[in-house]
Amino acid sequence: MNPLSRLLAEKRASGATILDLTESNPTSAGFTYPADRILAALADPRSLCYEPAPAGLLAARSAVSGYYGGRVDAARILLTASTSEAYGLLFKLLADPGDEILVPRPSYPLFDFLAALESVRVVEYPLVYRLGIKSAAGAHGGWSIDFDALARKITPRARAIVVVNPNNPTGSYLKKSELAELTDLCRRHNLAILSDEVFSDYALADDPGRVASLVNVDDVLTFSMSGLSKLVGLPQLKLGWIVISGPADVCKQALERLELIADTYLSVGTPVQWAAGPLLALRENMQAQILERVRGNLVYLESQIGRDSPWRVIEPEGGWYAVIQAPRIYSEEEWVLTLLGEHDVLVQPGFFFDFESEAFLVTSLLTASQIFQEGIRRILARAG
Ligand SMILES: Cc1ncc(COP(=O)(O)O)c(C=O)c1O
Repeated sequence: MNPLSRLLAEKRASGATILDLTESNPTSAGFTYPADRILAALADPRSLCYEPAPAGLLAARSAVSGYYGGRVDAARILLTASTSEAYGLLFKLLADPGDEILVPRPSYPLFDFLAALESVRVVEYPLVYRLGIKSAAGAHGGWSIDFDALARKITPRARAIVVVNPNNPTGSYLKKSELAELTDLCRRHNLAILSDEVFSDYALADDPGRVASLVNVDDVLTFSMSGLSKLVGLPQLKLGWIVISGPADVCKQALERLELIADTYLSVGTPVQWAAGPLLALRENMQAQILERVRGNLVYLESQIGRDSPWRVIEPEGGWYAVIQAPRIYSEEEWVLTLLGEHDVLVQPGFFFDFESEAFLVTSLLTASQIFQEGIRRILARAG
């Protein structure tokens, strides 16, 4: 247990009401799910039969293909129980024990565990943040990949580069110019790309310079991952997928090997596969609710931080999180412990996501608006 989780357990045991600004479970964030439609989708009588299919049932893969608007043939899709499982399968496919996978920093903390479980080494490459003006031609400021640093991190044991698009928690998308540089680097070093696109439908502003998905990258072996968890706000149903793209012969071989790995587990349940079509059809409804919440909370947060404030919002381009830069009167750890200990507000410290410097606080924009607003009021009142 770390000091924050210890304090949280003590607080909860003492009966304190915590304002949890880290809520990232959509099923407990107060959204209205079309329960009847979800349950009806899961009651398909075809689920009573077991037809093992390593890549997943064609009906489900076709539904995922439909999500991509026909740009992705079902033959290039392999179903998994989740995106986390997809990472595990891909690490097995691409890396031997001791091989290296490059992952962005700051980013989603699960990589270390997922890689360690496959005996693969994680090597971090930096994303850098620049202040700047946004123009119609695309963002000049914001987060970008430090390609010089990334290139320096590539060793003969490197097997793949992970991009999280948009990234958690920075909310930054890959840009078209970056994709060109990335594919060039991967071609030269014979590396695959793993693109985590679970939040790609949650763009918070338009940007023509952005790459929404890597599903049609054709010159480098690329695995684009997503799933119902974020796309429809249904993490409990356990359906994710991998889209494979790249040079035809390499793709064919990768798909055959992935099918062999998936066949060893056959982990995707039959009911959710038959339900994939109707469940994906719910995404418009669920995404509208989620985006309204996320945008509303972000607008509120920005409205509370004036020009002369010692606080700053690191504006996200997409996703469910907002990073707040806090005044350096405390370290990150002191901030999160003070906010929880004295103000009953739970936020995550930047170091959970390996931010390069301090002090950053990470909040989930999925949090119910009343809780979010009261939590933000208490946070900002602590220094200002
Ligand atoms: C960037 C990112 N990738 C993957 C996942 C995991 O998704 P899944 O529920 O499909 O395993 C998460 C969950 O928070 C995430 O933030």
